Amino acid sequence: VEPVRVGLMGLGTVGTGVVRLVEGHQEDLRNQTGKEIVIEKILVQDIHKERNVPVDQGKLTDRADEILQDPRIDVVVEVMGGIEPTRELLRQAVASGKHVVTANKDLMALHGAELLSAAAEKNCDLYYEASVAGGIPILRALVEGFSSDRITKMIGIVNGTTNYILTEMSRNGADFEEVLAQAQALGYAEANPASDVEGLDAGRKMAILATLGFHAQVSLEDVTVEGITQVTLEDIRFAEQLGYVMKLVGLAQRDNGEIEVSVEPALLPKHHPLASVDGVYNAVYVHGEAVGETMFYGPGAGELPTATAVVSDLVTVVKNMGLGVNGRGTVAPYQVKQVKGPEK
Ligand code: NDP
Ligand code: HSE
Repeated sequence: VEPVRVGLMGLGTVGTGVVRLVEGHQEDLRNQTGKEIVIEKILVQDIHKERNVPVDQGKLTDRADEILQDPRIDVVVEVMGGIEPTRELLRQAVASGKHVVTANKDLMALHGAELLSAAAEKNCDLYYEASVAGGIPILRALVEGFSSDRITKMIGIVNGTTNYILTEMSRNGADFEEVLAQAQALGYAEANPASDVEGLDAGRKMAILATLGFHAQVSLEDVTVEGITQVTLEDIRFAEQLGYVMKLVGLAQRDNGEIEVSVEPALLPKHHPLASVDGVYNAVYVHGEAVGETMFYGPGAGELPTATAVVSDLVTVVKNMGLGVNGRGTVAPYQVKQVKGPEK
C-alpha cells in the first residue's frame, strides 16, 4: 500500500510537535487510516539550524517548490505562519490538488473564504482545527456537533499567551515584560507577540468561531479589539479585592440576525466558570437555543496540544482519501448576514 506523503511547512514549535506525533503514534494512525503517513519534505527558513527533534537532514529544504512540485506529496501541513508567502503557497498547493491542514488563524481569518473555495473547486480538503484554542477541538464541535442547533452566543478565553501573563501577574505579581518573555520561551506566543498582547490573535480566533458558529462571514475588521497592554498589576489587585478576576474575553453573539464580536479585558466574578481558566489554558462557552449551555476547556497553545489538532486533521484527510470524499464538508455554508462592526 502506498503511504500518504506529507509536505510539512514549518518546523518550529508546532512543526516539531507534528513530527513527534506522526512518528510516535505511527501505529495508531495506521490502524485508524489503513495507511502509513510519511513526512516526505520539511520547509524551513534555515536548513542549518539545530532542531529540537531528530529529522533526516535530507528532508529539510528552504525551497517551497520541492513540496509544491512533487506529485507524490498528497498533503501540505502548514505550520510556518504569516500571511505571505503562505497564502500564495497554499493557493498553489490546492491548485495542484494537494490537501491542506493549517494552524494559521491569521490567514484563515483574513483569506479563509477564498482558500476554502479554491480547495473545494479542486476537491481538496482544507482543515484548520489548530487555528483556534490549540488542543480543544472546538471547530469540529461547532461545524459537526452543533449542526442541528442555532448558536446564539460564544464566550472565549482563546489566547494562551495573554491568559498566561494575566495568571502569572495575579498569582505571583510578575512583571508584564518578564512573563511575556517566558510565554515566548515556552512557544506560546506568536512570532510577533504584539498580536497576542494587543488582542488581535484572539480577535482572529473569535472571527473564525463566529464565522463557523453563525454561518456568516465574519472577519477581523468586524471585531472590536482591545488587548491587555494597558492592564496593570494595580488593576488586577483592585479587581481581586472586589471579588473579580481580570481575563481577556472574546464575545460573539447574534440577536435578531445581527452579529456582534468583541475582544477586551473584562472583570469576571470569581465564581464564574471562565474565571478559573488559568495559565495557557483556554475555554470556550457556547450557548445554543436547543442545547443550552456548554463549555469546552483545554490547553490553548504549545507544541504537543497544538500538534494533536493538526495531526487529527491530517488523519481526517487520510480517512477522506480512503473514502474518496475529500473537499466535501470543509466549507461552512456561508450566508451573507449583517454584521455590526466596531463604532467608527
Ligand atoms: P515558529 O516560529 O516556532 O515556527 C515557524 C517555522 O516556520 C520555523 O521552522 C521557520 O523556519 C518556518 N518558516 C517561517 N517562515 C518561513 C518561510 N517564509 N519560509 C520557510 N519556512 C518558514 O511558529 P509556531 O510553530 O509557534 O507557529 C506556527 C503556526 O501555528 C503559526 O501560524 C501560529 O499562529 C500557529 N499556532 C501556533 C501555536 C503555538 O502554540 N505556538 C498554537 C496554535 C497555532 P526556521 O525554523 O528555519 O526559522
Ligand atoms: N499565540 C497563540 C496563543 C498561540 O497564545 O494563544 C495559539 O493559537
